[in-house]
Amino acid sequence: MKIEDKSRRGETNVGFDAPAAAVNIALIGASGRIGRRLLELVAARIGAVRLRVVAMANSRSWLIARDGLGPQQALVRLAAEADASGTDFADLLLRLPRPLVVVDCSASAEIAARYPRWLGAGIDVVTPNKFGSSANRPLAQAIAAAQAASGAVLRDATTVGAQLPILYTLRDLHAAGDRVERLEAVLSGTLSYVLGGVHRGAALSQAVRDAVAQGYAEPHPACDLSGEDAARKLVILLRALGHDIELGDVERVPLVDAALLDAADPAHLLRSLEGADETWRARAAVAQARRERWVYRASFDCTSGPGRARVAPERIAIDHPLAQLTPCENALILHSAYYHAAPLRIAGPGAGIDLTAAGVFADLLATAQRHAPAVGVADTALVEAAA
Ligand SMILES: NC(=O)c1ccc[n+]([C@@H]2O[C@H](COP(=O)([O-])OP(=O)(O)OC[C@H]3O[C@@H](n4cnc5c(N)ncnc54)[C@H](OP(=O)(O)O)[C@@H]3O)[C@@H](O)[C@H]2O)c1
Repeated sequence: MKIEDKSRRGETNVGFDAPAAAVNIALIGASGRIGRRLLELVAARIGAVRLRVVAMANSRSWLIARDGLGPQQALVRLAAEADASGTDFADLLLRLPRPLVVVDCSASAEIAARYPRWLGAGIDVVTPNKFGSSANRPLAQAIAAAQAASGAVLRDATTVGAQLPILYTLRDLHAAGDRVERLEAVLSGTLSYVLGGVHRGAALSQAVRDAVAQGYAEPHPACDLSGEDAARKLVILLRALGHDIELGDVERVPLVDAALLDAADPAHLLRSLEGADETWRARAAVAQARRERWVYRASFDCTSGPGRARVAPERIAIDHPLAQLTPCENALILHSAYYHAAPLRIAGPGAGIDLTAAGVFADLLATAQRHAPAVGVADTALVEAAA
C-alpha cells in the first residue's frame, strides 16, 4: 500500500518497502528535551549499528520518510507540518520497514497504550516514558503478552533513575531468585533537587523553577510535586522485583497541598507554589535544628505482611544515607534474601536531559544490536543519518 509522505507532499508518494540494511527508528516526542538530545546522539554517529530515522512525531504533527530523515533537517520539517488530524500515525508505524524500533520520548499515556499493538507486530519499543511500565494491570499484562507472543522487546531502563543501573539490576536479581524484604529510595530527581535547594535556603517555588530550568522536571511539574512520578517509579521497581502492584496500591503524600497542584498550565502552577514557600522555609528550619533533613522517600516493606508501598516527604537523620545525596541524586537501598547481611546500595544523578538521553540511546543500541545479523553490521559502519 502506498501512503503519502507528508514531508514531500506534492512531490511524490512513497511506500514502505524495506530500505537497505539498517535498523529503522520511529521517534515520538522528537521535538521534546530528551527527543532532541537523542537525535543529536544519533547524528553524532556513535555506535556500531546502522540506525535510520524513518519517522518522527510530536503532539502536533508527524513525518515519515522511507529513505531516512536527517535529524536537524527533520525537526524543521516537523515544525512546518501543522496537521496532526486524519491519518493515525500509530497505525502508519505498523507499515514501516523492519527491523523497526519505536522510541517513545513523550510522557503520554495515550502513546503507551499503543505498545501492545506495536510489540505484537514485532516492533521493539525503547522509552523513558513511565506510563507503559507503570500502567494498570490490563495494559501491563497486554504489554507483557505482546512481547512474549512476538519476541519484540520493551526497553525502559531510564524510567527509573535515568541512566543509573537500577532497573535491570533488580530484574536480574529477581530472575536469579532474589526476594525483596524491604527497600527505601529517593526516586524523584526533581524532588531531590528541590528539597536540596530548600535546605540551602531557596524558596520552594524558586527551587521548583530552577529544577524546571535545569531540565529535571516532568513536562508538567505537578506530576513530580504530587508524588505521582515517584509512585510510578516505585511501581516499576517493585514489578522488576516480581511484585504484582499498581499505582493505586501506593500510598502517596504530595510535597505540597494538593489544591496548589490543580493548575493545568505549568506557568500558573509555578506561581501558585509561592503559597507553600513559608511552610517549607519553616520545615527546613526545624529539621536543621534537629540535625534532620527532608527527603521525598519511597519505601516498601513486606517483612511482616503482603507489603506496604509509600511515597512521602519525610524527615530523616542527617547522617542517614538518603540524607547525604547531592541535589538531583537518586538512591536505592535494598534489603533482600541475597542482600541480607548488608543492603545493596545504588546512588547517583537520577535525572537530567543528557543522562536520560544517553540511557535511552544505550537502550536503543542494545535493541538495535538484536537485529545485527539481519542488518549485517559486521562492518564498522556507524550510524546512518541522511544529511
Ligand atoms: N527530563 C528528565 O530528567 C527525565 C528523566 C527520566 C525520564 N524522563 C522522561 O522522558 C520523557 C520525555 O521527557 P522530556 O523532558 O523530553 O519532555 P518534553 O520536553 O515535554 O517532551 C515531550 C515530547 O513528547 C511530545 N508529545 C507529547 N504528547 C504526545 C503525543 N500524544 N503524541 C506524540 N508526541 C507527544 C511533545 O510534543 P510537543 O513538542 O508538540 O509538545 C514533546 O515533543 C518523559 O516521559 C519523561 O518522564 C525525563
